Amino acid sequence: MTKIVVFTGAGVSADSGLSTFRDADGLWANYRIEDVCTPEALKRNRPLVVEFYNKRRKELLSTKPNPAHYAIAELEKYFDVQVVTQNVDDLHERAGSTRIIHLHGELMKLRSERNDNIIVPIEGWEQLLDARAEDGALLRPHIVFFGESVPMFDAATKIAAEADMMIVVGTSLAVYPAAMLVRYAKPGVPIYVVDPGNPDTSMIRNPLTHIKARAAEGMPQLAEELIEKR
Ligand code: OAD
Repeated sequence: MTKIVVFTGAGVSADSGLSTFRDADGLWANYRIEDVCTPEALKRNRPLVVEFYNKRRKELLSTKPNPAHYAIAELEKYFDVQVVTQNVDDLHERAGSTRIIHLHGELMKLRSERNDNIIVPIEGWEQLLDARAEDGALLRPHIVFFGESVPMFDAATKIAAEADMMIVVGTSLAVYPAAMLVRYAKPGVPIYVVDPGNPDTSMIRNPLTHIKARAAEGMPQLAEELIEKR
């Protein structure tokens, strides 16, 4: 069975109404990364960090997957599909994808500040400031902050190296190491990029097709084509 790796970023969820990070109206236009998305920020101003992710969670709970998420899930009926996402939302799961690696963590989970392996699901949107893990430490959002290592990256590179095709949806390819994933595709493996903007494809050496469309339009079309000519 043809192995497809689908590598997604904030753009795949943009058509569900969630903000991207680096577009003109993106999250990083309204917040400074160093205020809300670093381990130092969590130490310095815990309430602000917790509030930032509470807001993201509230938005997530009021939205739903869009046709791009569903098209990616549909591919599983015909191909051996692995999703690698930089997104912390759960929209791929809700659309029905079953094999998903979250490189940057998951919004609907919290973890112990002391032990990275104590990870718990959160019900609803609100992390209370004094919520504690079973080891007694404070809970923090289960998010990979800037400056922290990306524990799932190794597993993702192995999967990318075995793929027969890569589909990249809605990522600026500006954040490392995640963006390096495109370099792990074997030589000659086709890479499709679905993005209405101009992601940094300069390090892609494989045969590249850039579908300049919104995810909710471009992804279902691409999925249909791939299914037809399989
Ligand atoms: P960015 O905000 O950097 O890039 C979003 C990409 O989505 C851009 O290439 C846009 O052109 C594209 N885009 C916008 N609207 C779209 C649509 N409707 N359909 C398809 N694509 C669309 O987001 P990421 O690349 O995901 O990390 O950012 C990577 C990481 O930076 C995130 O995981 C996050 C952020 O800081 C952490 O928070 C650790």
